[in-house]
Amino acid sequence: MTPLLHPYDVTREEGFRAPLDYNRKSLLKDVDRCHKAEIVSVIRLTRKERLFHIRLLEQGERERFSFLPGQFVMLELPGFGEIPISICGSTSQKGFLELCIREAGRVTTMLHRARVGSRVGIRGPFGSFFPLERMKGHDILLVAGGLGLAPLRAPIMHITENRSDYGEVRILYGTTEPEQLLFDYQYEQWRRVDGVTLSLTVDRPDAGWQGAVGNVVRLLEEINTPLEESYAIVCGPPVMFNSVCGTLHSRGIPRDRMFVSLERRMQCGMGKCCRCNVGSTYVCMDGPVFDFWTVMNLKEAI
Ligand SMILES: Cc1cc2nc3c(=O)[nH]c(=O)nc-3n(C[C@H](O)[C@H](O)[C@H](O)COP(=O)(O)OP(=O)(O)OC[C@H]3O[C@@H](n4cnc5c(N)ncnc54)[C@H](O)[C@@H]3O)c2cc1C
Ligand code: FES
Repeated sequence: MTPLLHPYDVTREEGFRAPLDYNRKSLLKDVDRCHKAEIVSVIRLTRKERLFHIRLLEQGERERFSFLPGQFVMLELPGFGEIPISICGSTSQKGFLELCIREAGRVTTMLHRARVGSRVGIRGPFGSFFPLERMKGHDILLVAGGLGLAPLRAPIMHITENRSDYGEVRILYGTTEPEQLLFDYQYEQWRRVDGVTLSLTVDRPDAGWQGAVGNVVRLLEEINTPLEESYAIVCGPPVMFNSVCGTLHSRGIPRDRMFVSLERRMQCGMGKCCRCNVGSTYVCMDGPVFDFWTVMNLKEAI
């Protein structure tokens, strides 16, 4: 897939205007198509979250499938419904998709009961993506709260796999309790990558917890190097956006260099059902990735 420039991927500081494709018509060729797929493995991450590996059944489709960090798919569980889920694996993984799913309601509960070999449907990938091309050569802050590490994992994997393209990388992650930390089996691997640091914090520590206590903003306050030239990606509950992005802005990061991923209830994923819009903005197509400046100017976006 040729990466399409997102309207918000315009390099404002360079005054460069990319050719815009607001209706994403060029991306909508195959979206009505639901690829038949099967669950090939299920890994329990926490009490509420599981990591699903999903393989498209048709070999040609499997080879053609590609995505950019930040994009999502519509995952169908036949007979129960279809839901948007961020792709949380590496863009270089071929053959299967990784989706981290929290048990929230009807479809996700049934998915958590599904077994290896269960058939599902995949449409997509959809939506905008984190502008990692534009971030090349810069320091990057990757900040997540709770389930936010799922959409953040794709950019983390892309950056660690293309390490020389980026400056210092700081991953800051917080949850309410230690047992809610996602992907803890990967922390050592990320920490071993040269120039990458990972800091963890929880609100309610247990007896064995040795990391920081408090919300993720606390971790930001401990950074004492200049951040003016950095980029930031912030994923998590919307209440986090104002506090994290506000703190980063006070440290000199312009608002259009911070990117967040918005969540709305979705049905079609392709700009047709008007389920996800915020004013005239469709989160499924204009987003889910937006720069913070845009989000601030979208009434009731967060
Ligand atoms: C772009 C995008 C990416 C997403 N990525 C992930 C992901 O990687 N992992 C993951 O676990 N979830 C993700 N979600 C959320 C996921 O789509 C919902 O949890 C799912 O649709 C719930 O379906 P359900 O039938 O199980 O729950 P329902 O029975 O439909 O609802 C259960 C509860 O969840 C709430 N809810 C449902 N959908 C949403 C939503 N979109 N935003 C906020 N609250 C919602 C409902 O209001 C209700 O309280 C994403 C959502 C979007 C829009
Ligand atoms: S989900 Fe249908 S318009 Fe966005």
